[in-house]
Amino acid sequence: MVNYGQMKKNEETRLVKAVFPNTTNHYDTLFGGTALQLMDEIAFICATRYCHKRVVTIKSDKVDFKHPIPAGTIIELIAKVKSVGKTSLVVHVDIFLEEMYQESRTKVIEGEFTFVAIDENRNPIKVLD
Ligand SMILES: CC(C)(COP(=O)(O)OP(=O)(O)OC[C@H]1O[C@@H](n2cnc3c(N)ncnc32)[C@H](O)[C@@H]1OP(=O)(O)O)[C@@H](O)C(=O)NCCC(=O)NCCS
Repeated sequence: MVNYGQMKKNEETRLVKAVFPNTTNHYDTLFGGTALQLMDEIAFICATRYCHKRVVTIKSDKVDFKHPIPAGTIIELIAKVKSVGKTSLVVHVDIFLEEMYQESRTKVIEGEFTFVAIDENRNPIKVLD
């Protein structure tokens, strides 16, 4: 039986996706808004798996789109808890680009998302008990 009390907190979440044409813009690259949505979603999952409380996004910050992401590639999103405050926590998200038919891996987007833990009345509560 697994003793969850002795396990390290879940600080990292990963998601791998194929960049299909239904997510691209008229330049045939991943639409920026879609990238932001994926980043906010994985950051939310990462924050939730870390503290197991209701969390809401209060800030997205330092999002750098360094390279375009062409259709027909693979992306991996990696979210990591960067810092934990009293009622807030910051999650860093990297997106790596991989070609389908050759070995390659390039960091193309990164950013930070801040979440606040809230109770059922939407008041901030401690992230960790
Ligand atoms: C989240 C919310 C309840 C926080 O209420 P608030 O009165 O602003 O909270 P506080 O001023 O007590 O701050 C709470 C925490 O957030 C941090 N914070 C507040 N504003 C911030 C900002 N602009 N950027 C980063 N952190 C911020 C504070 O430093 C504090 O962190 P700490 O306890 O770890 O030190 C409120 O802002 C809210 O409901 N926002 C809308 C959230 C939302 O709808 N998101 C989109 C959908 S998920």
